[in-house]
Amino acid sequence: MIIKVSKENIIDSAKVYMESWKDSHKDICSSEFIEKHDSEYMVNYLLNKIQNGYKLYIDYFERKPVGIVGINPADEEICLLYILPEEQGKGFGSELLEFALKKCKNPYITVLDSNKKAIDFYLKRGFIPSENQPESNKEKHIFERKYVYQNKNM
Ligand SMILES: CC(C)(COP(=O)(O)OP(=O)(O)OC[C@H]1O[C@@H](n2cnc3c(N)ncnc32)[C@H](O)[C@@H]1OP(=O)(O)O)[C@@H](O)C(=O)NCCC(=O)NCCS
Repeated sequence: MIIKVSKENIIDSAKVYMESWKDSHKDICSSEFIEKHDSEYMVNYLLNKIQNGYKLYIDYFERKPVGIVGINPADEEICLLYILPEEQGKGFGSELLEFALKKCKNPYITVLDSNKKAIDFYLKRGFIPSENQPESNKEKHIFERKYVYQNKNM
């Protein structure tokens, strides 16, 4: 069951985000940086996104929170797709992505070049590298790429 992130479920949402983010960043970030991302940090991060207009959603399966996704309505970026590590590979990511895609006309995503699993996931689901990569990424030495959605028949 996918519902909007609100005050009632912000703790669940932050927990999913924290556990999945830590797991997916443990090999690329220092342990100090990983530890900084505790539940309070993640609650504030998500609340800040909501205050900035992002629409965030959480997926519950048998009452257990399993994943989150976000959409920035200003530019239709689909972001914050995070599934609990032990719940990955069970279809929740596809479900949340499909849910978000239905709410967008010209969505895009950005992914770190090192995140091969996620890139594979998005490529298989109709995303292709954008011709317009943000120049600022090169200056900041951020190795992430923008992908746009092409396939409307997922
Ligand atoms: C990438 C991610 C969102 C996919 O969600 P998911 O629920 O595992 O995906 P599904 O079960 O719907 O689909 C599984 C597919 O994703 C791939 N996949 C990616 N990460 C996987 C993982 N950890 N375990 C199993 N499959 C994974 C599989 O290859 C599989 O591909 P296929 O079905 O096309 O053959 C999820 O693995 C995740 O939260 N990863 C960590 C956070 C992240 O990197 N988010 C994206 C940031 S841009």
